[in-house]
Amino acid sequence: MATTNQPGKQPLSEKLQQQASQLSDNIQSSQAWNSIFRPGSIFRKGYTDSPRNRSYVIMNSVLYHLHPVKVKRHAVKVSYTLCLGGLSFFLFILLTVTGIFLMFFYRPTAAAAWSDIETLHTSITFGLLVRNMHRWAAHLMVLSVFLHMARVFYHGAYKAPREFNWVIGVILLTLTLLLSFTGYLLPWDQLALWAVTVGTNMMGYTPVFGNEVRFVLLGGVEIGSDTLLRWYVLHVLMLPFVIVIFMAIHFWRVRKDGGISGPL
Ligand code: HEM
Repeated sequence: MATTNQPGKQPLSEKLQQQASQLSDNIQSSQAWNSIFRPGSIFRKGYTDSPRNRSYVIMNSVLYHLHPVKVKRHAVKVSYTLCLGGLSFFLFILLTVTGIFLMFFYRPTAAAAWSDIETLHTSITFGLLVRNMHRWAAHLMVLSVFLHMARVFYHGAYKAPREFNWVIGVILLTLTLLLSFTGYLLPWDQLALWAVTVGTNMMGYTPVFGNEVRFVLLGGVEIGSDTLLRWYVLHVLMLPFVIVIFMAIHFWRVRKDGGISGPL
């Protein structure tokens, strides 16, 4: 009590506060800090809340930069987009994370595939849960992409200037369906085997190149271990790689076409 009221003597709490703020000032003006946080960052010293700095905050942050500096009021209304595009993207991320987990325990050979799935169910911590999350997310992604397309169609957002993005969307839909179908074979159970037999037989009726298409898809004249390896590589590597590129183009186009279309 006595120390706080003595003239010329600072209370301890004030002193500590001063030292803490000096330390934070020193850190925030250091070269290391400034090389991480760019001008305009709210973590950088000297940030003032001005329209220019607000723009800097958005443009200098990878995460914020996904959104434009200014957003139209209707575009942030969930009832307009139903966030179906965002939901499709979220499901894709979830599929990637759960898929990587599954890759640790699955071998794409005719001898090991099904037994690995059984082991996953019975002997691996969270194995059954993660496999089911992967399966459900795949079904949901097909559904959400379809609903997203229906929403875009309903709002006439396929019209100029967004016709190019609609075409990118059609490619994304095809890739989503291909990802779903290639994943279907991987458990190597009866359902998968016969679904792929039917699917590739249908592809065999393609005019002119039917047999060649079937041969390429099967990796031989009939379904077998080579088919499994082929579809595995398509499922875990090639199709995800291609879809990520098209998603990047899709999101970039949404921005370049002036953000989300207006209400009807
Ligand atoms: C993997 C699949 C897809 C993902 C992740 C995706 C993601 C997105 C996202 C996040 C948006 C922003 C607005 C919103 O959420 O609705 C969007 C807009 C759009 N998408 Fe997709 N999309 C996909 C498939 C499709 C398909 C299949 C089509 C059409 C065939 C399509 C056409 C469009 C168009 C035209 C826009 C602009 C809509 C507007 O301005 O109102 N997308 N997409």
